[in-house]
Amino acid sequence: TKQIPEIKMIDSTFNVVTEGYNFVGKRMAQLETDVFEARILGKKMIVMTGRDAAELFYDESKIKREGAMPKRIQKTLFGVNGIHTKDGQKHKIRKAMFMSMMTEERLAHLRTILQEEWKRKGLEMEQKKRAVLFDESEELILRAMCRWTGVPLTDAESWRRAYEVGVMIDAAGGVGKRYREGEKVRTETEGWIQEVIEAVRDGRMQAEEGTPVHTVAFHQEEGELLDAHMAAIELLNVIRPAVAVARFVAFAALALQNFPEWKNRLGTTKELNNFANEVRRFYPFTPFLPAVVKEDFEWKGYQFKEGRHVILDVHGINRDPRIWEEPETFNPDRFNDFVDDRFNFIPQGGGDPDTGHRCPGEPIAVMIIEESVRYLTENLSYYVPEQDLTINMVRMPTLPKDRFVMDNIKVKGK
Ligand code: HEM
Repeated sequence: TKQIPEIKMIDSTFNVVTEGYNFVGKRMAQLETDVFEARILGKKMIVMTGRDAAELFYDESKIKREGAMPKRIQKTLFGVNGIHTKDGQKHKIRKAMFMSMMTEERLAHLRTILQEEWKRKGLEMEQKKRAVLFDESEELILRAMCRWTGVPLTDAESWRRAYEVGVMIDAAGGVGKRYREGEKVRTETEGWIQEVIEAVRDGRMQAEEGTPVHTVAFHQEEGELLDAHMAAIELLNVIRPAVAVARFVAFAALALQNFPEWKNRLGTTKELNNFANEVRRFYPFTPFLPAVVKEDFEWKGYQFKEGRHVILDVHGINRDPRIWEEPETFNPDRFNDFVDDRFNFIPQGGGDPDTGHRCPGEPIAVMIIEESVRYLTENLSYYVPEQDLTINMVRMPTLPKDRFVMDNIKVKGK
């Protein structure tokens, strides 16, 4: 067996924090390898990149999730002990609950809701004349997702709730105050959703069958309902990541600004879909994913020991030159002849969403980007004032600095 190249540092946490999205790629290039070992957050970890590493990462006979996700990320981003942390049969039963929400009919309903919400938002933004697209998108998506899932949301609370969900997402890579804020708003938001679950269960609130709130409230495992708090965590695992798509909406607007030649190439369903996928590939979002070696095995001559933590370089795989021709070029057309093998395009995880941990929300994320790009290009005219739109690659998750300010906003063809 070969020795896994090692970073000779007592602990690389500092470098992860100070280099962010660039940490893995930089080491891979320096060591000319697809795998290296480093000590991060006090643990020895195998960091891996490339399509084959993704395939390994999603092989459940070799890799598990139990004990992988740092508690601080559970306490802000995902909720403690939710689906992300489960393995085997427990995971499959829980996952089926999420997948059952994604029927063609339910997704078509979400598209209609998104179109209605964009119409409303367009008028609202026209009134304001000047608006921050990222913030507006978070609020719009929260409204849409509450309607779709069946969670009541009043006009008076939508901005505050959207802000709080946004803080939860933003806190994921944070330390100190940013982390504590995230933990606090998660507790509050879980309380809000738990109250809805309880109201649905004891009949104080009507929930239509087939809506996610109904699905989660009455989902059973071994003949038992989920604990109400866990149910809240999982319903939030639908709403929160959708709100996170606001980042991709801001990135999509940035792409329209920086690569305007694509604006009149969005007419067909395929073109719009290609554009959304290229936004998911090109712009940084999920940096890496954590897991644990289930039992000893050998891979490409390297020894993987049971219990060793592993990290998959999601960001790097989006820019891997062995998968993507000219990866640093924004080119939606690349998806015309792209052959997806489940491990080569993984901005939201790889493998099979039905059985593995791959994100169940990809159709929702793509749809939100598509409908946003459609509205921005077909129905809105706006001016992009002088601002700082640089993307800080050290901050995780990141965003164009000024969150995409738009000015002189007008709804077209009124
Ligand atoms: C899992 C990314 C949107 C629900 C994941 C994973 C990633 C991811 C990287 C982990 C895959 C793994 O552990 O192997 C994203 C990104 C999104 C997004 C970047 C858009 C900004 C959504 C949406 C939903 C959703 C809209 C709504 C249903 C989930 C759930 C899981 C998950 C429930 C856990 C799946 C499991 O552990 O089996 N997502 N996601 N995500 N995502 Fe998403």
